[in-house]
Amino acid sequence: MLMQKENTPQMFDAIAQTYDKLNHRLSLNLDKVWRRKFVKFVSDRNYDVVLDVASGTGDLLLELQKLKSQKYIALDPSKNMLEIAKAKVPTAEILISKAEKINLQDDSVQLITVAFGVRNFASVDEAFKEFYRISQKNACLAIMEFALPKNFLCRFGFKLYLNLIIPFYGKIISKNKQAYKYLSKSIVDFANNVDLTNKLEQAGFSDIKVKNLLCGAVKIYKAKKIIF
Ligand SMILES: C[S@@+](CC[C@H](N)C(=O)[O-])C[C@H]1O[C@@H](n2cnc3c(N)ncnc32)[C@H](O)[C@@H]1O
Repeated sequence: MLMQKENTPQMFDAIAQTYDKLNHRLSLNLDKVWRRKFVKFVSDRNYDVVLDVASGTGDLLLELQKLKSQKYIALDPSKNMLEIAKAKVPTAEILISKAEKINLQDDSVQLITVAFGVRNFASVDEAFKEFYRISQKNACLAIMEFALPKNFLCRFGFKLYLNLIIPFYGKIISKNKQAYKYLSKSIVDFANNVDLTNKLEQAGFSDIKVKNLLCGAVKIYKAKKIIF
């Protein structure tokens, strides 16, 4: 039986120890390049308070240190993933929580980031509502997520990779085939069913910019909370 979204925190708890190793191997270290590009994409201004949602083992949180912000908060429902993040960035505040209900005050954050996390949310709408509530005026929300390339050949190659290579290596390294089957399925389901630009607009965000990486297999969205 395949994993339900509500159970993903337990799944990430189970694979936390091998998560980084597998991430780097499966992406041939491209994930490091994507995180660097992501941070560059949002580095056109300064932010006092940065919230990294679905922070996991903190690789993006680490890269975000380049922004030299005053305060960093790492949010994730998986305690085991966050323990690894805390070891990488000991100064970060830790919030064990889901994105759909965040224990932070209204208008308190200037940058919210999510890398490869939104497709795990049980409700993207609820999470985006929360992001809007806690964002200050002119705050930035930046999201990186897998997508399906438009080009037929790239799309075919990416689907082969998702359906064969990820579950195979996932089983060998993490000993958890179910988790890596879920990973592939969640990418395809999400890409086929969720229009992130539309959801961002519905939540009130505007000035949305999208950057494609790897033929569109990875997309970065940047949006603002603009109050007229
Ligand atoms: C694929 S990992 C991404 C981790 C990290 N951002 C990265 O780039 O490597 C997805 C993370 O989403 C977290 N997650 C699952 N459901 C969530 C939810 N409802 N709200 C916030 N995070 C969630 C998981 O615990 C996991 O750490």
